[in-house]
Amino acid sequence: MALSRQPLKGMRQLLPGEKRVEDYVTGKLADAGRAYGFEEYEAPVLEPLELFTAKSGSELAAEQSYNFVDKGGRELIMRPELTPSLARMVAASGELIYPVRWMSFPVCYRYERPQRGRVREFMQFNLDILGVDGLEADLDVFLVLRRIMTSLGATGEQYTISYSSRKLAATVLEKAGLDAEEMTLAWSVIDKRDKMKPEDWENWAGKQLEGIAGADSVMRFASCDDLGSDWLTGIAGDTPAYLELAGFSSMLESAGVAEARFEACVVRGLDYYTGIVFELMDTGGENRRAICGGGRYDDLVGLFGGQRVSGVGFGLGLLTLQLFLDTYGLVPGSVSRSHPADLFLAVFSEEQRPFAVRLAERLRNEGVSVEMDITGKNVSKQIRTADRKSIRYMAVIGPDEVESGTFTLKEMATGAETPCLESRVAETVRE
Ligand code: HAM
Repeated sequence: MALSRQPLKGMRQLLPGEKRVEDYVTGKLADAGRAYGFEEYEAPVLEPLELFTAKSGSELAAEQSYNFVDKGGRELIMRPELTPSLARMVAASGELIYPVRWMSFPVCYRYERPQRGRVREFMQFNLDILGVDGLEADLDVFLVLRRIMTSLGATGEQYTISYSSRKLAATVLEKAGLDAEEMTLAWSVIDKRDKMKPEDWENWAGKQLEGIAGADSVMRFASCDDLGSDWLTGIAGDTPAYLELAGFSSMLESAGVAEARFEACVVRGLDYYTGIVFELMDTGGENRRAICGGGRYDDLVGLFGGQRVSGVGFGLGLLTLQLFLDTYGLVPGSVSRSHPADLFLAVFSEEQRPFAVRLAERLRNEGVSVEMDITGKNVSKQIRTADRKSIRYMAVIGPDEVESGTFTLKEMATGAETPCLESRVAETVRE
């Protein structure tokens, strides 16, 4: 029986054209990070399971992960995210210069039901600042995020960065009189607010919170999107959590980050967040999954012992971002079509091959990317290949070319032909 042609469900497999699009996008992400002084790092794909059960929350580590016992009896996990590994690296590196500004492109694994925007193996872009308690770091992270979207051609009407504060949510729930157990339930109810249709959520949340004295406040808070509302200022307006968030909102305003808006229901699923939390969402209806999520985690590094180091950052999914870009037609068609070779050298007959090999090598040394025929098929077939691959220039190496040292460079798209001396080929192609 023939082997299956399908990869495992939800696994990452990119054909060259798709990889070119991903490279285009990751290039923009890294450029945006570099514009703010971020440098790249790498962390292991395989980690001890306990790193994630302790730091990310049990749902992600136990239910949504690939974990197994290795031959040495160790409980391991294919990383479902990067932040706990980052925190460990920072805790273990004695000689860092703060603030640390690090970015990375981890491939992560989650055992989720594959659907639009959700797969089991996916690449994220992570960008984090460590060692700054002040909200200037949070603002920097928002600015990078906006720069990313702008550099990819997105407009402020197409996405929002919704933010809230874990501290504010805890303060409101406390004031509403919820005990610890009720609070845990309330978090998950609030978290679902923007993941369900409003009517469905109202019914479902009402049932979940039945019998809890502060249920009304939980429901109201979850639906609140106005930091200045009488209800919110009445319940928490004079608390440090509220004042901090209001201060952050003013910082965003004066920096002109108009795409950011307060939405109390953003609380995020991961356990380690301690302050501002945020998600970047498509405003249209087609992509309902967050493109990016992040927040502040001031206690995570300290869990490894030693110095407390605060952190803030985000993880952005390449798949969710690409779905967004496709929805709005933001990937230029030329990106997936553009072939890495600048020039195709067709070889007329085997007699010219040694000359063609030397010429191709010389041109490569001069910085031209050259694909030379290695099939020995007839020239018209070779030219067809160059055409189908959308290689920009083509030249045939025949007896006349070898003798005269002059070639005809043909631009495939236009058919325009330029006679050109051997010594000028590289320069002409580059022009
Ligand atoms: P997260 O919200 O779990 O946060 O993931 C961040 C992003 O990764 C999501 O918004 C989504 O775009 C993408 N993503 C997550 N799961 C999947 C999946 N199954 N398939 C495709 N894409 C997915 C974190 O991972 C945090 N560690 C982010 C962070 C960094 N917070 C602070 N620093």
